[in-house]
Amino acid sequence: MKKLTVLSMVAAAVLLTACGDSATGAEAKAATEAKSESVKKCNAGKCGEGKCGGEKKSATTEAKDAVANAAEKVKAAATEKATEAADAVKEKASEAADAVKETATKAVDSAKEAASEAADAVKEKAASAVDSAKEAAGSAVAAATSAASTDAGKALFAKCAGCHGADGKTSAMGKSAIIAGQAAADLEKKITEYKAGTRNVAGMGMVMKGQVGGLSDADIKAVAAYISGL
Ligand code: HEC
Repeated sequence: MKKLTVLSMVAAAVLLTACGDSATGAEAKAATEAKSESVKKCNAGKCGEGKCGGEKKSATTEAKDAVANAAEKVKAAATEKATEAADAVKEKASEAADAVKETATKAVDSAKEAASEAADAVKEKAASAVDSAKEAAGSAVAAATSAASTDAGKALFAKCAGCHGADGKTSAMGKSAIIAGQAAADLEKKITEYKAGTRNVAGMGMVMKGQVGGLSDADIKAVAAYISGL
């Protein structure tokens, strides 16, 4: 629009100066009217008096000034727009940079979190692996111990079987209670008492003292466990 205005002003100026006769467009109408005025003045003989020359000169100067002004305005407006655009671009760029920064920070945070979670999970797995290894070792030891003690108990019971029966279900010399299946703790206590000479249920405590006097505490524990399992 501004360019167009400048062009039409130039066109008007040219028409005014040259008293030319070709013009197009609505903007040219004014110029044509201006030309008519000028022609009228010329026809009225004022040109002859040298006034037209003067008018021509001042019209040219005005047109030049107007073009210069318009150019100045266009330049100022363009500079302003360019500055505004640059500012807007700067602002957008800074916003974008902030957004990228934030996203990067978030990504780093979640990566950190994931790494820490993974580390925790690995730790936990390792700990539980160690625990189950310990447990397995423990139960292996327990199984071995119990197998050994069962064997020991079985071997020790061999000399008891003559009176109590191979299955422990015979009343020894028709006097004792059935010992098979009694609680291991009870059997342990009774045998220990016979060993000490403090137990005598059917008057045969001394017979039993002779049988168990040579047993160690571990032997008593093993044989009691074996009898309990019969
Ligand atoms: C010579 C036979 C004889 C032999 C061998 C023998 N016992 Fe006895 N046992 C007896 C008699 C008799 C009694 C009952 C004693 C009493 O009067 O308290 C008895 C009692 C017991 C009782 C107590 C039962 C109860 O519930 O009151 C236990 C336990 C027992 N014997 C374990 C053993 C063990 C273990 C051995 C092998 C190391 C053994 N006995 C070997 C004869 C024997």
